[in-house]
Amino acid sequence: MWLLSSVYFAFINVSLWLSWMHHGDETKTHAPVENMRPSLCPELHNSDESYLTLSRTWHVLGPFKSGTREATWGADHLERLGGFRNLSYDLGARFNSALGPDGYVRWSSIQVEEPVSGAGYAKATINLSFPEVDWAFLRSIYGWSALQYQAWARGNLTVIGTVPVTVGLFTDGVLEFRVDDEPYFGGDFYAYRRAPLIVSLAPGNHVLDIRLVRDVRALGGPEQPTIKARIEIIEALGEVGIDNSTLLTAEVVEGRLLSPFASITFRNHLRSWVEIREIQSFGPSETHLSLLDGPLRLAPYQSRPIAFTVKSHGSSSLNFSFNFGYGVDYSTETRISQTVDVNLTEREINEAQKVTFLHPSGIVSYAILRPPVNSSCHSEVNGKLPVLIGLHGAGLEADSELARHMLDAAYGICTWFIFPTGVTPWSGDDWHTWGSADVLAAVAAIPNWIKAVGWNGPGVALEDWLVSGHSNGGQGTWFFLTHQPDKVVAAAPVSGYSSIENYVPFTMWHNAEPALTAVLKTARQSFKHELLVSNIAGIPVLQQHGSADDNVPAYHSRLMHELIYEAGLSSEYHELEGKGHWFDGVLTTDSLLSFYSRHAAISNSANKLLPLNFSIVVPASGDMGSKGGIVVDQLETPDRSGHIKVSREDGERVWRLSTGNIHRFHLSPAAIRATIPSHIFIDNGTRSFAVPTENAGLMWFVKTSGEWIATRGDSWRSLDQRYGKQLGMMDAILRTTASFTVRAYSQGSDGVASQISRNTFQYFAADSRVISRCKEESFARASDDHNTGNVITVALKDDLPRSELANFPIHVDSGNLVVRRPHLSRGGSSEHKYEFEPGLGAIFLRPLMNDRLELVVWGADLSGLQQASRLVPMLTGVGQPDFVVLSDRCRWQGFAGVYAAGFFDRSWQVSGAPYVT
Ligand SMILES: *[C@@H]1O[C@H](CO)[C@@H](O)[C@H](O)[C@H]1NC(C)=O
Ligand SMILES: *[C@@H]1O[C@H](CO)[C@@H](O)[C@H](O)[C@H]1NC(C)=O
Ligand SMILES: *[C@@H]1O[C@H](CO)[C@@H](O)[C@H](O)[C@H]1NC(C)=O
Ligand SMILES: *[C@@H]1O[C@H](CO)[C@@H](O)[C@H](O)[C@H]1NC(C)=O
Ligand SMILES: *[C@@H]1O[C@H](CO)[C@@H](O)[C@H](O)[C@H]1NC(C)=O
Ligand SMILES: *[C@@H]1O[C@H](CO)[C@@H](O)[C@H](O)[C@H]1NC(C)=O
Ligand SMILES: *[C@@H]1O[C@H](CO)[C@@H](O)[C@H](O)[C@H]1NC(C)=O
Repeated sequence: MWLLSSVYFAFINVSLWLSWMHHGDETKTHAPVENMRPSLCPELHNSDESYLTLSRTWHVLGPFKSGTREATWGADHLERLGGFRNLSYDLGARFNSALGPDGYVRWSSIQVEEPVSGAGYAKATINLSFPEVDWAFLRSIYGWSALQYQAWARGNLTVIGTVPVTVGLFTDGVLEFRVDDEPYFGGDFYAYRRAPLIVSLAPGNHVLDIRLVRDVRALGGPEQPTIKARIEIIEALGEVGIDNSTLLTAEVVEGRLLSPFASITFRNHLRSWVEIREIQSFGPSETHLSLLDGPLRLAPYQSRPIAFTVKSHGSSSLNFSFNFGYGVDYSTETRISQTVDVNLTEREINEAQKVTFLHPSGIVSYAILRPPVNSSCHSEVNGKLPVLIGLHGAGLEADSELARHMLDAAYGICTWFIFPTGVTPWSGDDWHTWGSADVLAAVAAIPNWIKAVGWNGPGVALEDWLVSGHSNGGQGTWFFLTHQPDKVVAAAPVSGYSSIENYVPFTMWHNAEPALTAVLKTARQSFKHELLVSNIAGIPVLQQHGSADDNVPAYHSRLMHELIYEAGLSSEYHELEGKGHWFDGVLTTDSLLSFYSRHAAISNSANKLLPLNFSIVVPASGDMGSKGGIVVDQLETPDRSGHIKVSREDGERVWRLSTGNIHRFHLSPAAIRATIPSHIFIDNGTRSFAVPTENAGLMWFVKTSGEWIATRGDSWRSLDQRYGKQLGMMDAILRTTASFTVRAYSQGSDGVASQISRNTFQYFAADSRVISRCKEESFARASDDHNTGNVITVALKDDLPRSELANFPIHVDSGNLVVRRPHLSRGGSSEHKYEFEPGLGAIFLRPLMNDRLELVVWGADLSGLQQASRLVPMLTGVGQPDFVVLSDRCRWQGFAGVYAAGFFDRSWQVSGAPYVT
């Protein structure tokens, strides 16, 4: 029995939870409360299993102020006192707090809600509020940012039994916690429940310290700002577990599986390494399964999404069952996992249907697709129809009934319909780097669907997008308008916010020196759509917003409408009197329907969208596609945006470009929605450059010593040039083209490596393989490195290996962390040395060959390493630049405590205006 894994993390219906969580940025979907099933019935366990209890009374200390997404940087006032862990419940003690009614806060105790204790299972819900604080007054001055705060809560978890028990600890709504003083950063802020912490607990009492951070985007802005969090502890039975609620497959239409890609989450419950060796199917013998990337290994207690393909040739039922064969540690013995039954859903061809595909990072993702079945669409002249992309709001799953049917009333319109997920209900990173890559991959998967069903209806114009989206998806629509303007033939941002900074202001952050604040602000500018409006020139835009929207105020749409006018452009704006954030049919109002149909029909005229004169703003974020076919490869400095002004003359065959902060660009003629130029002049130079008629994309225009020249060939793409997927701030690490490799490089760094792997899976559904140096020679061979993904290196002290790039400006050298910065005025450079001290940490990007990246997470000691690891990209709005050197003070001062922060330029040197002390 022991060899077989059995019941694990049960299917958990999170709909009740979601209806709590998303009073903020989200469509309000109040699923019926009866759907909330007990998560795992304690009676399933036999009596000699461990009994788990959580205390009903918890001790609370707070509130303290907290800025929007500031907690990632530390910024925990109590750390000044050695941390909450160093404090004991004491009704007489008081603590300085800007939110305390008399300038102080004191300990209190609360009763948890819905406590459950039982065999192998315990649960408690924390519902925290501080009615003694005058929130209304604070809000009248600081707005929503005043309704965000932090507090700590302490409770006991008791294991009653005689042997240690391995449990999965689910922490919905929590960003950070401690179990018996062991810190865990990440938690499960959005209640995804993908990657619980798996730990082994000895019999007896364990102290749980939970840091609670209130976020308006997740919890809304009501009069009494409460924090909700849920702790759920489920015994992990068996050596390994398969979370069958995570099974992802395509659906079936007319007896054909729409796509072979499938995945399921596999958990290692052991302190040993586990290797998954094979997958086998049962049922119709014609079903053949294979691991996409096997064999693959799981570090102790790791969860990974296992991608596999399903090929069926049968004609009867396509349903099947499968299990995995795995080995533990060095053992050659192959054991068999639990079996999972797969019931594939059948759809009609004219229904919304689920297709799977590969996200660029190698994980399996899905989108909901609906083909143009309307017979009137079949007579289109060129036979290709554009794609209408519907972007969902925060907290919504694309295959929820709500998202699937958002555009039902638009189904007569002659377009392909696709609802991407952005990988997670929060679209990965709000439809930015991770989420937009998913949209591109979803659209690119349409031809595979056409093949899979043998479709002979109208074709698809893959480069002609109509984009519409609601709430966070409205913000995503602005993202595509400003970052992929050549793809968008028309767009309708609905009830969207203009940027995260404008949504919930960052007012409450610790103050820092202006030079440092400038670095942070630059890092956050990349998705500030207010600054990028000129990129939408020529694209028809319809904006819609309810006047009574108390979730995303109509101010956002009014503001963009005004800014678009200031840029000399126009958009159509419809404010719906008395309407709130969401109502049935919000994406299919009469004006939207007529907008979609008008622009669905323009495919042929889409090639005339480009205005005679237009401007491009290129943010340093690196997620910028082309505008007017102009693709900027490198900026002169990443400290500012790049600018290009274009005027088209002489029958539109001659383009005059004037540039600012642009170093290198090329043309992508196929993307130009206008006559392709024959010649271009750059920066008023007298020389004109002939645009080649073939392979124009292989000719680069480069500014060298103030002069523009044209070069052929891509040999400039070398390790010492920063380009392509390496561009942008720390988020660039998310542009991996295979699973991440997390390298635990030092003794004692395995815990942090596991945490990074857990967080990237929890928050992005990203896969990572962990390599531990302690294990390298034996089980996890680092040398089998034909991996093409990005690497996250976790190291302590002098262990950090040198960069592959010889003159990389940051390195560790006998007891010092060294940062080399150039002298702009004098030439040359100088080195800043940070001698190892307690709490010193650093995190920075480094280049790898072939457009790949490495993210170094380093500490002079474990505390510094843990501090640095908090900044591995996870939540949006945190604002990580390319490199950060952290001091021990960051624990309470947050960003204000950093020693150095800044950006790398196009040759991987520290750029112009870093902050270095
Ligand atoms: C998941 O696994 C559990 C335990 O084996 C089983 O009771 C349940 O029916 C399964 N659910 C699905 C959807 O396969
Ligand atoms: C822990 O708190 C005590 C006072 O309660 C203080 O004296 C001590 O310095 C603190 N420890 C740390 C590491 O700050
Ligand atoms: C949480 O607490 C607040 C204030 O004490 C109360 O009004 C609210 O009903 C509670 N919420 C839940 C879900 O129990
Ligand atoms: C946790 O248990 C300890 C020891 O029994 C007890 O002193 C403490 O008050 C408990 N804490 C809470 C929050 O119940
Ligand atoms: C799989 O089984 C379910 C339940 O029996 C059934 O509804 C469905 O049609 C089957 N799917 C296929 C593709 O055979
Ligand atoms: C599949 O369908 C069968 C027949 O309807 C049902 O008994 C079984 O529980 C289903 N399994 C899953 C995993 O949904
Ligand atoms: C461009 O060059 C011409 C002639 O060299 C000069 O008259 C004109 O002022 C220049 N324009 C700009 C914008 O520099």
